[in-house]
This record gives sequence, structure tokens and C-alpha cells, in this order.
Amino acid sequence: MSRLKRFSVAVPDDLLDQFDLYIDKEGFPNRSKVIVDLINKCIIGDSWQKKEEVAGTIVLVFDHHKQNLSRKLTEIQHDFYEIIISSQHVHFSHDTCMEIIVVKGRADKILSLAAKIKAEKGILHSEIVMTSTGEHLKKRK
Ligand code: NI
Repeated sequence: MSRLKRFSVAVPDDLLDQFDLYIDKEGFPNRSKVIVDLINKCIIGDSWQKKEEVAGTIVLVFDHHKQNLSRKLTEIQHDFYEIIISSQHVHFSHDTCMEIIVVKGRADKILSLAAKIKAEKGILHSEIVMTSTGEHLKKRK
């Protein structure tokens, strides 16, 4: 566990007022907790840019009736089996399905998988949630 270090930050006073209101509203115990979360977010974003080992989910909503789409999605996922931990299919309605794909691996491979899925006709929405495997974060706690 890393030692805590203090540092001072200069910000416009009206911005700090807004920040304190936000902290109150969200129920954070102090400013430090929010700053640490923001720093983690920056570091995770950087890991994705540097093509490091990362984790995340790809969430997609698609048209159940689009011909061959389910088969294509399965084929794409088989092409990327090394980085897919699991997937879950949810029948949202008579017409739409959701799939949640949990991924772990090199960021560029995950982005490539997400791009291939997004390009398929019948995908109504897709989103990547970028997070960390936790290894980088654990070292600093
Ligand atoms: Ni379905």
C-alpha cells in the first residue's frame, strides 16, 4: 500500500464552490476521494491509449429480426475468443436484444472487436465501458 502524499492545487474559487456542492450532493466523504477517482480515470484512459492490458465491457442493443446478425455476432466473438471472458444475451423485447461482452486483454484488440461489432447492420447502439484489470490500481493503494 502506497503512502499518502499531500499536494495543493490552485483552482478558480467559483469552480471549487461548484466542486464542493457536487461532493455534498453525491455524498463523498471528502475532496481527496473524488480527486483519487479522477486520477484513476486519467490513468485508465492512458492505459487504453497505450494499448496496455485492460478490461471492460462492450454493451450492444440490436435488432433481433435482422437476418444473420446473431450468427455474425457469434462469428466475430469467436474470432476474438482470447479476449472475451464471458457474454450475456438478454431478450429485451419481441424485437430487440442486448448483449454484454466482458473483455480483458490488449486495448487495441478490444477496440478492434468493438469496431467490428459496431459496423454490423442492425446494431442499434453499442458502447464500451473502459476500465482496468485492477493491477495498476492495486499497486498504488
Ligand atoms: Ni434475444
